[in-house]
Amino acid sequence: MRLAQRLTLAVILALVSVLALHGWHRARRESALLDREGRRDHLLLGRALGTGMTEAWRRAGESAALALVDTMNQSEAEIEIRWVWLDAPGSDPSGPRAPTPTLRPVARGREVAWVERRPGRDERLFTYVPVRLPSGRPGAIELSESRSSDAQFVRTSVRNAVTATAAAALACSVMVMALGVLLVGRPVRLLVAQARRVGAGDFSARLRLSRRDELGELAEEMNAMCDRLATAHARLLEETAARLAAQQRLEHADRLATVGRLAAGIAHELGTPLNVIAQRSQMVLAREVAGDGVVDAVRIVAGQTERITAIIRQLLDFARRRGPAKSVCDLRGVAEGAVSLLTPLAQKRGVTITLVQPEAPIQGELDTGQIHQALANLIVNAIDAMPGGGAITVSVSRAWTEPPVELAHPPGEHARIDVRDEGTGIPDDALPHVFEPFFTTKEVGEGTGLGLSVAYGLVREHGGWIAARNHPDGGTLLTLYLPLGGFSQ
Ligand SMILES: Nc1ncnc2c1ncn2[C@@H]1O[C@H](COP(=O)(O)OP(=O)(O)O)[C@@H](O)[C@H]1O
Ligand SMILES: [Mg+2]
Repeated sequence: MRLAQRLTLAVILALVSVLALHGWHRARRESALLDREGRRDHLLLGRALGTGMTEAWRRAGESAALALVDTMNQSEAEIEIRWVWLDAPGSDPSGPRAPTPTLRPVARGREVAWVERRPGRDERLFTYVPVRLPSGRPGAIELSESRSSDAQFVRTSVRNAVTATAAAALACSVMVMALGVLLVGRPVRLLVAQARRVGAGDFSARLRLSRRDELGELAEEMNAMCDRLATAHARLLEETAARLAAQQRLEHADRLATVGRLAAGIAHELGTPLNVIAQRSQMVLAREVAGDGVVDAVRIVAGQTERITAIIRQLLDFARRRGPAKSVCDLRGVAEGAVSLLTPLAQKRGVTITLVQPEAPIQGELDTGQIHQALANLIVNAIDAMPGGGAITVSVSRAWTEPPVELAHPPGEHARIDVRDEGTGIPDDALPHVFEPFFTTKEVGEGTGLGLSVAYGLVREHGGWIAARNHPDGGTLLTLYLPLGGFSQ
């Protein structure tokens, strides 16, 4: 229910309760007053008539006295006046109509009033005024009057009160409703619309209520809040851009460091094809081959050149600075690229890398360059951890996992890449720090301490995370998780 409607309802309820209570009290008061007045009239009339009767009796006898009562009865339109003998048998129609116990005080000289209530008939007020006659026989003047006109009067007054209450409620509701809409409903609607705009990120709109009450103050405060939010938002955008640029520079620095580490392996890798090219060229120059032999030699030279180009392109590709760009691709291809880039370095260190891939593709929207770099960092660390050589296993799979609490993601299916080595393992005191930037246990010049922190940042941008733990059988297991939302087989 709207505010204006609630306000109207509350005012009407209060008004109707007050008026109804007042009307009820008034009706009761009026009814009591009418009753009191009726009784008093009866008594006054009865006493006056009693005195007259005694007088008439004394002067002209019983019949004159009773005739006086009849005359009086005829002159009164609403009150029926009768003379009743109190010692008349109960069945005598000229006797009193009130029950005998009620009449006992009358016989003792007291005035009595009695109301007759009979279902389906009007209420009647009976008053008995005892009269002491010279004969000594007990008698009283009976005055009776229907109270229907009194009840009718009270009913009319109640009806009037109800009509007045309804009219007042109607008038009040129209007025309160109109005022509620004008003073509360409209400005609150404007405030709500403004709050919605702010919620949707539009801080430019300003509210002009031009009023000096609480709602006007609220609008002013809201405008001031919008100003502050707009400033904070602009600063946030600037800081985010600066942070992104810094992050990208860091990623690039880390990539170049990896390229430096790879250079030794690549140089070794290039040695073999360069040897083959030199040998074949010398054979041709020394004319050791002729005819088809020359063609074969050139074909071999061309093949080896292609191999060299491919190796160098792979390295340049990795080193190149790029902006983030997500596209749909197969995670297995990314793993394969990283493994093939690092195989020369691994071979030079006496390390073998085995890649375990699932049959079905794991496709999803991801930035190949970023995931490639993250995975390469994990593999480089694994190679570093085995100075005497050993085996690395990189396995790609799917797994139902619960993300770490700080990510506040629901559990679900994730793409998972395990990099398992047989190396030294991570010391327990170093384990909580390995993802911190510039944390390294390596000699100066060997490690930058950026590898894992950059890898974590890149994977977080994909909604994933990296877990590091030592394997119970020795060595380290680093697992990279990516959410499968959007990934499909
Ligand atoms: N596979 C691993 N085996 C043992 N220790 C590791 C492994 N991966 C990372 N670490 C530890 O984590 C530290 C941080 O790694 P990283 O951030 O890549 O920096 P850097 O390799 O330049 O030292 C390493 O210095 C090393 O102590
Ligand atoms: Mg590293």
